[in-house]
Amino acid sequence: MKFFVDTADVNDIRELNDLGLVDGVTTNPSLILKSGRNIIDVTKEICSIVTGPVSAEVTAMDYAGMIREAAVLAKIADNICIKLPLTLEGLKACKTLTSEGHKTNVTLCFSANQALLAAKAGATYISPFVGRLDDMSFDGMDLISEIRQIYDNYLFDTEILAASIRTPAHVTAAALAGADCATIPPATFEALFKHPLTDKGLEQFMADWAKTGQSIL
Ligand code: E4P
Repeated sequence: MKFFVDTADVNDIRELNDLGLVDGVTTNPSLILKSGRNIIDVTKEICSIVTGPVSAEVTAMDYAGMIREAAVLAKIADNICIKLPLTLEGLKACKTLTSEGHKTNVTLCFSANQALLAAKAGATYISPFVGRLDDMSFDGMDLISEIRQIYDNYLFDTEILAASIRTPAHVTAAALAGADCATIPPATFEALFKHPLTDKGLEQFMADWAKTGQSIL
């Protein structure tokens, strides 16, 4: 399973990338706002930190505008993945950009039919928003399972990128449901490492080790 970081904060990206476990980054207009940086500058910096795909989202609502913005974003670096909304215009732009050889991430997916359309449009990634469905009292993971089954039925290459991940339990559930990737906020990413029994066990081992009076080096 690929792990992407869902942020435009370069310090967080750098720190997590140093662990060697980051396969890519996703950004969106809200995350750019949170970063307080210019979209081109911050995206360029992110692309210089990670080697994997960096999703940069278009903001135009129409096909022609999306294609124009995608041309600007694609020039930032070779690892840019153009992020497009799951609208009629967005899927049309996805088809064009994919056929031109760009990586594409279709975002704001909330139904299996939308995911089916994105795959037919040739999307590299489909981003179903798990947390936002949970917020509305739906089970976001059911959507991941449905998309997995549909993509497997027809051997679509589009990768399922579980998005709007809010908790470590979401990551486990997405992995069990067969998501190809999850895009994870930095705080949730760090929480994946933690378990109270790991801390307790290590504390005991270290205490016993001290009592042996030994040293490995
Ligand atoms: C995905 O690409 C989005 O950037 C992100 O996962 C949305 O998450 P949120 O619902 O927590 O804003």
